[in-house]
Amino acid sequence: MRHVTWWAAAAALAVVGCTSPGPGDKTERLSKLPPVPSPADNPTTPDKVALGAKLWVDPRLSGSGKMACTTCHVREKGWTDGQVLSRRDNGDMNTRHTPTMYNVGYSQSFYWDGRAPTLEAQVLAAWRVQISADPAKATERIAAVPAYVAEFQKVFGTPPTPDAVVKALAAYLRTKVSGLSPWDRHEMGQPGAVSADARAGFELFMGKARCAVCHTPPVYSDFKFHNIGLEAGKPKPDPGRQAVTKKPEDASAFKTPTLRSVAISGPYFHDGSRATLEEAVRYMASGGGADPNKSPLLVDTKLNDTEIRQLVAFLRSLTSDEPYTAPRLP
Ligand code: HEC
Ligand code: HEC
Repeated sequence: MRHVTWWAAAAALAVVGCTSPGPGDKTERLSKLPPVPSPADNPTTPDKVALGAKLWVDPRLSGSGKMACTTCHVREKGWTDGQVLSRRDNGDMNTRHTPTMYNVGYSQSFYWDGRAPTLEAQVLAAWRVQISADPAKATERIAAVPAYVAEFQKVFGTPPTPDAVVKALAAYLRTKVSGLSPWDRHEMGQPGAVSADARAGFELFMGKARCAVCHTPPVYSDFKFHNIGLEAGKPKPDPGRQAVTKKPEDASAFKTPTLRSVAISGPYFHDGSRATLEEAVRYMASGGGADPNKSPLLVDTKLNDTEIRQLVAFLRSLTSDEPYTAPRLP
């Protein structure tokens, strides 16, 4: 330990912390992210998270027996799927792009339009809709696996139930934190952690480019809903948040995504309409589309090509590298 500088020790500790999360977890504090909150009736515990990690990759949860949650939310793609739009287990197409699972536990409402009030409600909906399952029938398949029965007994004190499946998955998702990136190491004082372009990009992001107005550090989201003009001119505009609140001012407004690990999660936006990070950044920096309902917070900040490159370099420095190995199924 003698030859290891303090930041390297902190980083090592934090990486270990990522795999054993919990309230007050050191990782999150070291990486400047607050602990992920959990509801009183579903506290995050290591055993529950380990069970959720298995259910997350288990196709037996789906209607067809072939699709798992992770089919569309892939670690290497920032827990998205790399597609513009994805096909559900029953063959239907989704109408919105698959979002990241990173830092989802900090959200106060879920889906692009925030229609699910809790992560548990969201997980149940995804189970029914995305992987087209009847939760009672899928739970019977899980309950036929003795090792699962023992694990549910240990974690919940009951055999597998749909409610326990949902709780384990939600607890697991609360540990999907993208918190320790080169940029965090730079903020902790590690020399050479990021490039000069990334540092210049951060100054732009916080200042002239006005990105932090909505992508507020440390999660780089305000978890609010804004119209950035992507639906303007489409024959059937997606109503976005308006479908939930019924308020005209919420027309085509969508939840601000976290920008942590955004470099690996293309294509971008709720409609998956921009293939590369540079295209997405150019769109935002130019003030978005021409929609009368567009947020007044989004304006053309007239950045030149160098400044766009610097913003992209900064966003690339927000990619975390915590280890992930898919668990073996019982
Ligand atoms: C076929 C692809 C697909 C599969 C499989 C899938 N999802 Fe998703 N997921 C999506 C799409 C698309 C959305 C966004 C839908 C929307 O906002 O209307 C989404 C949204 C989410 C969100 C909300 C994220 C946020 O920021 O609000 C969570 C959480 C989630 N999924 C969890 C799950 C879980 C748990 C499973 C397994 C039960 C699952 N997903 C399976 C495509 C998929
Ligand atoms: C008015 C608030 C607001 C401002 C200002 C803003 N953003 Fe965003 N940003 C959003 C919202 C909301 C979305 C998602 C909207 C959608 O998909 O319809 C988004 C999406 C993005 C995405 C795509 C992320 C993904 O996972 O698909 C990137 C990249 C991005 N913004 C970067 C920036 C940059 C860089 C700036 C500054 C030049 C900026 N944003 C300014 C609200 C904002």
